[in-house]
Amino acid sequence: MNTRKSTLRFVFVLLSLLLVLKSTVATEVEDELEELLAVDEEVEREAEGGVEKLSEAEALSKAQRIVVELNNDNTERVVNGNEFVLVLGYAPWCPRSAELMPHFAESATSLRELGTPLLMAKLDADRFPKPASFLGVKGFPTLLLFVNGTSQPYSGGFTADDIVIWVRKKTGTPVIRLSSVVEAEEFLRKYQTFLLGQFDKFQGPDYEEFVSAAKYDNETQFVEVNKVELAQVLYPAIKPTGRFLGIVKSEPERYTAYDGAFTRNKILEFVGYNKFPLVTKLTEMNSIRVYASPVKLQVLVFANSDDFKNLLDPLQYVARTFKSKIMFIYVDINDENLAKPFLTLFGLEESKNTVVAAFDNGMSSKYLLESKPTQSNIEDFCNKLVQGSSSPYFKSQPIPDNTEASVHVIVGKTFDDEILSSKKDVLLEVFTPWCINCEATRKQVEKLAKHYKGSSNLIFARIDASMNEHPSLQVNDYPTLLLYRADDKANPIKLYTKSSLKELAASINKYLKAKNVKDEL
Ligand SMILES: *[C@@H]1O[C@H](CO)[C@@H](O)[C@H](O)[C@H]1NC(C)=O
Ligand SMILES: *[C@@H]1O[C@H](CO)[C@@H](O)[C@H](O)[C@H]1NC(C)=O
Repeated sequence: MNTRKSTLRFVFVLLSLLLVLKSTVATEVEDELEELLAVDEEVEREAEGGVEKLSEAEALSKAQRIVVELNNDNTERVVNGNEFVLVLGYAPWCPRSAELMPHFAESATSLRELGTPLLMAKLDADRFPKPASFLGVKGFPTLLLFVNGTSQPYSGGFTADDIVIWVRKKTGTPVIRLSSVVEAEEFLRKYQTFLLGQFDKFQGPDYEEFVSAAKYDNETQFVEVNKVELAQVLYPAIKPTGRFLGIVKSEPERYTAYDGAFTRNKILEFVGYNKFPLVTKLTEMNSIRVYASPVKLQVLVFANSDDFKNLLDPLQYVARTFKSKIMFIYVDINDENLAKPFLTLFGLEESKNTVVAAFDNGMSSKYLLESKPTQSNIEDFCNKLVQGSSSPYFKSQPIPDNTEASVHVIVGKTFDDEILSSKKDVLLEVFTPWCINCEATRKQVEKLAKHYKGSSNLIFARIDASMNEHPSLQVNDYPTLLLYRADDKANPIKLYTKSSLKELAASINKYLKAKNVKDEL
């Protein structure tokens, strides 16, 4: 009798609990329920479909079910009620969000299979601005990891594997431990790049520095073994010593051993310099990592995929020579978003042919290989870069014919001769095609040129700053009028472009002391 009553009460409580769950009760029960429901679905599916493999679409939709959808009601509860929650803030109209979404879902599946104690959640931050601001989602897409309700920004890569690696590092599994040959072989099939640590015992100061580096790193999988036979599965050349560290990559430059001190920062430095392949293909997904590389001298090869196929071997050969000194990057020349911003810096945005360029991100200077992109030319180019003996590149239009021009057209290549080394005074108009007030100034300069015609010592000139560069031409607003006096070319005088014609002439006369020029306009 009593038992029956209490059973009924229990069912009632459970039912009412289920009803209020959706809105207010702060508990983890729902998450557990969701998990149970998801598992049920899997079981059902397996029962129905036997061992049939999931199609890609099915796998994706299954993965998306694992990801909890946040809204006005559940956000605080989910984030505060779980130890680890990885939140993706997105907007439905944002293409980068759309690109990340399937990777995020795929990583959710992998993380679940690995048993990672983490809840993955997503929030349409456009539709739910309140929880978005509660979570601190400001742009799209935003990934945040909440640990006991406190967020930290995501700092890993953006493929599903990258997300898995990062999340495991930050949720208690910074290093994967392998304990059998089978495990080691399976690991080897799965990971493209990893740092291997072999230690007699998983303890002691060296080992602790290794684990600390694994936690602090954001993108490379660390793996540990305590037997040399296991280490040799991953890195065949290891000699049986008690301790070993090395990086492994699936590419021609497969193995690099570490011979530095066992401190966190030294290990991280080693990983930073060695994690990239000989030639890295630039993508939207990896661009941030590539720019953040500690290797500041970067050679970029812009080519279509066919040309690149032929260039890959020679490039890898050269890249070996300059390992950890120069980073080699391939950019698909047909990928407008990635290639154009770079090519524009060289005035080569229309190029269909292979372009080899270099950037020194430490010095913010740029270089261009002006000969054919053969192996020996590229090698030469790199040698000069490393020695610091190549001249930086400055954009220039072709040299124009100025014989008939009242206002000389100056380009990057003629700036030295016609302005800096010329014995004459020069008034230079610096413009760009898109600047709003440039047209008015151009007319003023033409009138001035007419007015001063016959004064043999004053030249009028103009330069299109969007197409031409010179190290001594540092102008940021357009139009700019610069008066280079014959006796002081290093210090041009900036004239006020909004002045009337009369005022401009007066300034010119004043600065040139009216030596050879007419006084009145
Ligand atoms: C989260 O909070 C729980 C309960 O206070 C605690 O046991 C756990 O260690 C915390 N997790 C982390 C990663 O700090
Ligand atoms: C990993 O990311 C965090 C946060 O952006 C950063 O502070 C840290 O330096 C990164 N670690 C490495 C090894 O670059």
